[in-house]
Amino acid sequence: MMDQQTVDTIKRLMEWEAARTALPEGFPPLPDMPAGRYTSQEYYDLEQQYIWKKSWLFAAHLDEVPEPGSFMQWDNAGQPLIIVHGMDGVVRAFYNTCRHRGAPVVTVQSGRSPRLMCGYHNWTYKTDGELVGIPESQDFGSNFDKSCRSLIGVRCEMYGKLIFVNLDDNAISLRDWMGPLWDEWAEFGFDRMRLAARQSFDLKCNWKVAMEANMEVYHVPFIHAETVAPLVDHKRNVNTIFPGGHARMIAPPPKNTNREHVRAIDNPPEWQSVETVGELGRTTTQSYTMFPNWVSPLSNFFIPPLIFWPTSLNTTRLELITMALDWGDGPVPDLWTEPDDSIEGGGGRRMNAIIQEDTQFGEAIQKSMESDGFKSVPLSYQEARIYSFHQTCDKMIGLDRVPPHLAVEQVIGQDWVWPNDPRVAQMERQVETA
Ligand code: FES
Ligand SMILES: [Fe+2]
Repeated sequence: MMDQQTVDTIKRLMEWEAARTALPEGFPPLPDMPAGRYTSQEYYDLEQQYIWKKSWLFAAHLDEVPEPGSFMQWDNAGQPLIIVHGMDGVVRAFYNTCRHRGAPVVTVQSGRSPRLMCGYHNWTYKTDGELVGIPESQDFGSNFDKSCRSLIGVRCEMYGKLIFVNLDDNAISLRDWMGPLWDEWAEFGFDRMRLAARQSFDLKCNWKVAMEANMEVYHVPFIHAETVAPLVDHKRNVNTIFPGGHARMIAPPPKNTNREHVRAIDNPPEWQSVETVGELGRTTTQSYTMFPNWVSPLSNFFIPPLIFWPTSLNTTRLELITMALDWGDGPVPDLWTEPDDSIEGGGGRRMNAIIQEDTQFGEAIQKSMESDGFKSVPLSYQEARIYSFHQTCDKMIGLDRVPPHLAVEQVIGQDWVWPNDPRVAQMERQVETA
């Protein structure tokens, strides 16, 4: 929950941001980011090894494995995994790899069973991964120890009804990974929201190209002139950089906007409102980046994350998800996609106007970036969330592992990372002298 003092400070910072005529005092000029971060296989391989295999990643909503015995396949992290809701009520993740000769234990996309049985030779596992059945086991010899042939588990922890996995056995807890987000998100009902929609689309650009379209509001007046811009006052946006590469933006609607529609993606008339959501969640557009691949506006009506998965150096799978309180007999909430009869498969849905605007240039941007005309990326203060994200990418990889021609300089220091915020002191000084 955000306390009243924080709310008040952010509201004052909104006006201060809009009135400022120069960079905030002491904010470091951001050095250019090397082009190869988006185009080199070398950097992509480092990301694969040190970011994707070590980060907490959103895998599923509990509604997808709702009951003891429910399971689903999940391979967005590049490894075939299964998420299993154990008969003991605990949700776990395993490699979908039989301990006999490596066949997939689960071959259907999802299902429900008190035991998991590999179809090749019927080795059978309990839902906690323990190997309990081997046909003709005497032929493996009397010393064969079933107990050390359990399915190999993957770290799996929950935030409310959301299931996260981490391929690194030694990772910090999800709670520590989320840092201040863990408590700040308590008001948004992660423990009550149902999964309403989960669609995916393949994009022809690097995952960071796609994701960064959702990490600044500098583009809003231009790309989203008709959609987002009338409802998001980008000049009064307040960015906050959190530890661990996470970040938050909070932008109020323009002052002359009809308050019925305060957010660009509001569609609330028949939706239930989460009563615990505070003032800013009700009256502004706020969006959170959770490192490495989650971007989500949060409000009293929805949790609608956009999740970005690299499928190669220059392709990305974008998941568009809507979570909302129970919608009863009403239409199923889906903030990001709409029916399109001309599309076969994929549920026959297309991205909505806002997402189309954000993704429309991805393929062309990637082509331009791969040309000799692309040298480096200068970022503005308004785009600092992106820069901070890149600093964290390099830190995850290991600063000594990133070749100098691919590295970003670590110029945004702890003094600009939550809970520190030099803007507040500057604002207070200006009030005093005014
Ligand atoms: S490979 Fe699974 S039982 Fe043989
Ligand atoms: Fe956008």
